[in-house]
Amino acid sequence: MDTILILDYGSQYTQLIARRIRELGVYTEIVPGDAALKLPEGTKGVILSGSPCSVYEEGAPAPDPAVYKLSVPVLGICYGAQRMMHDHGGRVAALPEREYGRRPVLVSVKDPLFEGVGSSFMSWMSHGDSIEQLAPGFSVLASTDNGIPAAVLHSGGTMRGVQFHPEVTHCEHGTTILENFAIRICGCVKSWTMDRYIEEEGAAIRARVGNAPVLLLISGGVDSTVAGALLLKTLPPQQVHLMYIDTGLMRKSESEEVMRILGALGAKHLHRIDAEADFLRPLAGVTEPEKKRHIIGDAFITVQEREVLRLGLGEYFLAQGTLYTDLIESGKGVGKKAHVIKSHHNVRSPLVEQKRTEGRIVEPLDRLYKDEVRALGLKLGIGEDVVRRHPFPGPGLGVRVLGEVTKEKCDILRDADDVYIRELKTRGLYDKIWQAFCVLLPVRSVGVAGDVRTYGWTIVMRAVASSDGMTADVYEFSMKDLREISAAITNKVKAVGRVVYDVSSKPPATIEWE
Ligand code: XMP
Repeated sequence: MDTILILDYGSQYTQLIARRIRELGVYTEIVPGDAALKLPEGTKGVILSGSPCSVYEEGAPAPDPAVYKLSVPVLGICYGAQRMMHDHGGRVAALPEREYGRRPVLVSVKDPLFEGVGSSFMSWMSHGDSIEQLAPGFSVLASTDNGIPAAVLHSGGTMRGVQFHPEVTHCEHGTTILENFAIRICGCVKSWTMDRYIEEEGAAIRARVGNAPVLLLISGGVDSTVAGALLLKTLPPQQVHLMYIDTGLMRKSESEEVMRILGALGAKHLHRIDAEADFLRPLAGVTEPEKKRHIIGDAFITVQEREVLRLGLGEYFLAQGTLYTDLIESGKGVGKKAHVIKSHHNVRSPLVEQKRTEGRIVEPLDRLYKDEVRALGLKLGIGEDVVRRHPFPGPGLGVRVLGEVTKEKCDILRDADDVYIRELKTRGLYDKIWQAFCVLLPVRSVGVAGDVRTYGWTIVMRAVASSDGMTADVYEFSMKDLREISAAITNKVKAVGRVVYDVSSKPPATIEWE
């Protein structure tokens, strides 16, 4: 398949470059920018990403020099363009003032990169350095209104660089510029479709697993549900075992819903494990968030191991709904390491590690981004309401019942959350919000209902706008919606006496409360 290879130098926009080009129908792969160059089969072009570094800094990441000798076209974006210039003898220096945001660009030379763009457009810049002197062999294709080279071309015809960010939606004609590079310049054929993915991935899974059983742990989230659907489409249903652990920390009716969806997709071996006691018992009396997370993580491992053993599947393969972004975050792609704010137990379990060592892991979604997983889910017959579900953390209500977790508190939270989410859906707000949920505070307050004194629990409504969960902004409800939803919760859930709205962004807060 025609592929654009992206060499990553750590820019916050690298993923965006990959996604934008995939949206055009061309497959992309991201690899560490400073590794020895190895072109995947079908590579028709290479992009050098941006970076938080400066090319003249000691230890700044640089490409394998073989990149500059390729016969396929190469496009440097921001740092990528400056790198190209620096490595060919040009000069890159700090700008007197860093340049962020919109900047007019004037196109001075006709080039396929700017086909359909016109003679000027509004670009998006994000840099502190700039090309000060071109390297020999390079010429300017376009400049900013303050005279800085915005796009350059090498006389060999294969190397181009842009100092702006065409991948950012605020960049006018950005998509056209990326399409011009991938299609016109590299000659890629648009062949990245979900139909093709189902075919290719299906064939690869069949070849890999043969007749061996495949076990998938289902969480109820979009990823594992779509992974299950793909396995059921690819393999005879008798070969596919789906295991769902009901932790007692799930949302209202969630377990029944998961069973219904997978049953409708043709699952024959659907194992629902009622493990509420395995989770709630060790959580009794524990209030410290990280301790709670570890207890829940450990309980998952214990229950998983016990139940998998009970199934007695022999030499089976373990399937996981790992996404492309998960691989990158875990260091297999770019190798970036994030600071641990919260322990996500569901990333690595000993069972997964053991199966990985044995070479018996199947990850049917590991080349996909979240939006592609949603599109794949729809293709496989999973409903809109399921693929558009907001993210739900592995530890479930365990991190939304603040302080000690008890069944009673989980029940109150389940009821309140159910009212909240239903209200959002009825009001047409659910799909406008990235993630919405209720939190139960360990705080009671005095109220009055029908002339009687009440002493009820406090529910927090949380709703955030985000694109990846890394940062988040508060969703701005109208006061009318807030008041009406609050009233619906207190009217329907007796134990709740007060509702508050969380107006903190991330940072400094996080999306979940624990
Ligand atoms: P925070 O609370 O860290 O959450 O801002 C960012 C996103 O991650 C989800 N989250 C989790 N997801 N296992 C998960 O699979 C976890 O342990 C976990 N903790 C938080 C959270 O719901 C939000 O979408």
